[in-house]
Amino acid sequence: MGIKAILIDYEEKYADIINEIEEQQWGRWCTGDIRDEITKHTCIKLAKINKDIAGVGYGKIVGDAFYIQVIVIKPEYQHIHIGSMFMDYFIDYSKSHELSNIVCEGVLVNNKMNIENIMKKYNFKEVIRIKEYWGYRFPNDWCKECGCKPCKCTNVIFVKNIK
Ligand SMILES: CC(C)(COP(=O)(O)OP(=O)(O)OC[C@H]1O[C@@H](n2cnc3c(N)ncnc32)[C@H](O)[C@@H]1OP(=O)(O)O)[C@@H](O)C(=O)NCCC(=O)NCCS
Repeated sequence: MGIKAILIDYEEKYADIINEIEEQQWGRWCTGDIRDEITKHTCIKLAKINKDIAGVGYGKIVGDAFYIQVIVIKPEYQHIHIGSMFMDYFIDYSKSHELSNIVCEGVLVNNKMNIENIMKKYNFKEVIRIKEYWGYRFPNDWCKECGCKPCKCTNVIFVKNIK
């Protein structure tokens, strides 16, 4: 296809573009500042195509698990395996840190789940569905996915054992 993406490390100069990509995806209400996510356990990568940032993925080590917080690919770059590049990276990262599990959260709304295909591809196991999860956690936020405040989306938690 001629489009070649590479994953690069986070630098402060990318913070605003990351916030913008997330805001495009989740809306202003549900987007914080990436700078507030950074701890010594956080891993942030960006996908770069030529000079363009095509997407962002980040997560953190929590005990013996790696928790993938966000993978967002800009709409024009979706379905060309950039999401898979992030998954491959985080799986390798988790293995190299000798972690036991990788955890991911999906959003289920109107019978559609955003990460269904990629979870199948990587053999993640669904462990629990929690109705109106974000609505209870963040009652004052308006959700772009379901159009409600509080959010009515179902949280679907997936786990992959890597040991
Ligand atoms: C979800 C998302 C991250 C996936 O990224 P992507 O770059 O589009 O994904 P990829 O091209 O690597 O696609 C994964 C592909 O695995 C493929 N796949 C699925 N099951 C498979 C299997 N068993 N074997 C092989 N391949 C399989 C599918 O073709 C799927 O592509 P599709 O979604 O186009 O059908 C991206 O679409 C996105 O940013 N969505 C909006 C934000 C979001 O919902 N993020 C997730 C929560 S943070």
